[in-house]
Amino acid sequence: MNFREITKDIYYAGVNDRVTDRFEGLWPLPCGVSYNSYVVSKRKTALVDSVEAGYVAELISNVEEILGVKSPDFLIVNHMEPDHSGGIPMLCARWPEMKIVGNRQTINIIKGFYHINDDSRYHEVKDHDVLDLGGEVLEFTLTPMVHWPETMMCFATQSKVLFSGDAFGCFGAMNGGIVDSEMDCGIYIEEMYRYYSNIVGKYGVFVQKALAKLAGLTPAFICSTHGPVWHDDIERVMDIYDRLSRYEGEPGATIIYGSMYGHTAEVAEAIARRLAQRGIRRIRVHNASKSSMSEMIGDAFRYGILIVGSPTYSMRLFPPVEQFLQAMETREVKNKVFACFGSHTWSPVAATKIGEYLQRMKWDCAASFEMKQAHDVATGAALDKFADDVMAAYKK
Ligand code: FEO
Repeated sequence: MNFREITKDIYYAGVNDRVTDRFEGLWPLPCGVSYNSYVVSKRKTALVDSVEAGYVAELISNVEEILGVKSPDFLIVNHMEPDHSGGIPMLCARWPEMKIVGNRQTINIIKGFYHINDDSRYHEVKDHDVLDLGGEVLEFTLTPMVHWPETMMCFATQSKVLFSGDAFGCFGAMNGGIVDSEMDCGIYIEEMYRYYSNIVGKYGVFVQKALAKLAGLTPAFICSTHGPVWHDDIERVMDIYDRLSRYEGEPGATIIYGSMYGHTAEVAEAIARRLAQRGIRRIRVHNASKSSMSEMIGDAFRYGILIVGSPTYSMRLFPPVEQFLQAMETREVKNKVFACFGSHTWSPVAATKIGEYLQRMKWDCAASFEMKQAHDVATGAALDKFADDVMAAYKK
């Protein structure tokens, strides 16, 4: 068996990126990321998805190792974000006879990004179209906004392999294993929360539509564009994507606070302690000035309780806290038990400003608390009630 083979005649040809610091220029990659590409080699051959432009030489070398002197007949383009499409011009130059397979939007975006304007290079597909490779039939499913408008998936109907694009992907370069059964997947599952919430999080409605379209399929393997090939853990990763796209939290709480001199931080710590005493076992406390936005968004998506606290700062919210709330608003986060706290020295503006976000996002507030200047015995009693109110809303 070729060491790249996933299942009969389907191969992994992807690459690892352990160099890039930030995905999309924004999201930290402490464990790197993989750009996954696959080869289906039947009477005809298809390369499924490309890689980021800087890694295309490695992709070509991998494909040549799999196919020898044969060139791929088709390049299936499931997604056009440049981490997957950047290599397309070089692939087309290397294999001039290879047809690019995409839907109408894919083709338009390729023309816009890469100026490949010769229509004879393209094979256009629509929802549910099939491509017969002779021994394997690929069926296409359009899944717009998972995570761009042109996004689609394709299913190898005989081998039961789903090429899912970004769906079911995660951060983390591969560490030797390709299929989940070959590795300890802990790190990838952890990174899935951050990946989903940071990158795809805004498009929960569309992920739900895509999951509904996939409902009849029983894939043996899911080959996404980032992270392990899923086989043993298919049910688990589908469940994570299902819950995250419905904004359904796991048991636990995320507390995000900003603090200049430690007084607001003290409230955050006091709330965390009270939640722990009331039975919440997974609590993530983030100082918004220090934690990465990526981690904060990931935890906010992951857990059922979200508590945000800010001092009043120049008659506004503390800037890193405001940035976090903007990230929640952008992603249309919902279904959380939300509570907030503010602090001020002479003018209580922060709580009002958080209230404006709540109104726009149609969030209920399970508890709120405002502190003037510093924590004392009286505020301690108020925080007991705050924690009780959060727990009451959580248990509803
Ligand atoms: Fe991995 Fe939306 O690109």
